[in-house]
Amino acid sequence: MNAIELLKADHDKVERLFQKVKADTEGKEHKKLFEQIKEELDNHTHIEETIFYPRLKKESELEDIVLEGIEEHHQAKMFLRELAKLSDDSEKFEPKLKVLMEDITHHVMEEEGEMFIKVEEILGKDELEKLGAEMAKEKQNFKKTQTASAGK
Ligand SMILES: [Fe+2]
Ligand SMILES: [Fe+2]
Repeated sequence: MNAIELLKADHDKVERLFQKVKADTEGKEHKKLFEQIKEELDNHTHIEETIFYPRLKKESELEDIVLEGIEEHHQAKMFLRELAKLSDDSEKFEPKLKVLMEDITHHVMEEEGEMFIKVEEILGKDELEKLGAEMAKEKQNFKKTQTASAGK
């Protein structure tokens, strides 16, 4: 999988989790789904920020959109942290989860609709493959460290 395919596959996975949240109108599964969303997004933002974005930032044409992306990640992480800390009966959980999903959907639209299109024009096929392989590897590493730190 090249870099773009890998990141889009992650986006699709998260979008499917969002659809599950929306379909579950009673909200019984929301806490569990949130855990999965958080795990996916923690890993996804990690590989973008450590591998993908630093490479893109070297291209003057991509610098602004990357800097904006980093700020959007920052907001998302703040929400993920806050959501994880809320007590089970908090009235803030549902609205915060809703805003998180709206923000992520917007961020994904900017990446896929603008950033990735430019990236495909600027970076060559070989480099996209190489970045994809690096990110796939880092995803596995990240998963291992997360599992270890959770004491599982
Ligand atoms: Fe992103
Ligand atoms: Fe992304």
